[in-house]
Amino acid sequence: MIRSVVRGFGAALPKRVMTNKEMESKVDTSDEWIVQRTGIRQRYIAGEGETTASLGESAARAALARADLTADDLDLIIVATSTPDNTFPATAVNIQNRLGMRHGAAFDLQAVCSGFVYAVTTADAYIRCGLARRALVIGAETFSRILDWSDRTTCVLFGDGAGAIILEAQEGAGTNADRGVLTAQLRSDGIHGDKLYVDGGPSTTGTVGHLRMEGREVFKHAVGMITDVIEAAFEATGTTADDVDWLVPHQANRRIIDGSAKKLGIPLDKVVVTVDVHGNTSAASIPLALDTAAADGRIKKGDLVMLEAMGGGFTWGSVLIRW
Ligand code: ACO
Repeated sequence: MIRSVVRGFGAALPKRVMTNKEMESKVDTSDEWIVQRTGIRQRYIAGEGETTASLGESAARAALARADLTADDLDLIIVATSTPDNTFPATAVNIQNRLGMRHGAAFDLQAVCSGFVYAVTTADAYIRCGLARRALVIGAETFSRILDWSDRTTCVLFGDGAGAIILEAQEGAGTNADRGVLTAQLRSDGIHGDKLYVDGGPSTTGTVGHLRMEGREVFKHAVGMITDVIEAAFEATGTTADDVDWLVPHQANRRIIDGSAKKLGIPLDKVVVTVDVHGNTSAASIPLALDTAAADGRIKKGDLVMLEAMGGGFTWGSVLIRW
């Protein structure tokens, strides 16, 4: 059977770092409060000329270089983002153009913080049914541009960045020993729409709007939803927590990450954590964390890697990949 195998990975961050100390000069907060409640110590903030498309392009170029491929070798680009450069055309088409790619298809996918998990699942489906052979999957965000910088309950949490992987069709035996995506579990429930949303949009206010969140409500649902989809992935593949080499969670909050790992019985030394340096970069957080742990040699070829995310919608999901 056809499997979608990771052929390359890359990431890009804005030049500017904003520490918690600097945040103290913007809103009534403290480094101590932010670290204790979230684990975040700093985040990267896009400057002039840095956009979701430019960060996504840089991450894509890094992934192509690592895979020893060029844009000519791709036939699909999916960009997971909630902060596109423009309402349309899609940021994916913008990045396709920046890469000089004049063939294939490119589109954006919007599932907020679960966007990368949704995009990998979509690319895997395209590849397995023969609609694509090599897909560039990007998570890219500039959440700093939709934050209310006077709201301390949200502005301290988010950051900007981009990450990318390249998935390639390869023949597998149809067992868990195959490299590539082994299963994906996606969920959503719009009843939670008012707990984490942006208060604007083209069809309502005609403005971009600002992020609004009931943090405590999101927190209340997060661990249960995350562990449900991970357990569904175990059930679909006949694997257990003991088989997982690396849990690469969406990086929203250290307490949510630790709580989920504990509930699943995955030791913390098998969990990739980057929320301390990146903050919550929404759809970019998982590919940024993957890039960090694969580049420093923690995630190796053949490792079993569990991705998970939960975010606005709510949307949530997991993807199990043999790297
Ligand atoms: N600095 C200092 N004090 C603050 C700050 C801040 N930045 N923000 C809120 N507070 C205060 C509140 O005003 C409140 O004060 P009060 O008791 O006088 O009213 C107090 O701190 C406690 O506020 P809570 O909201 O109860 O704090 P909590 O412990 O729940 O932590 C947090 C807030 C970090 C947002 C937490 O609820 C959380 O992590 N929720 C999940 C949010 C999340 O991860 N969202 C993203 C997931 S989905 C996605 O990624 C898009």
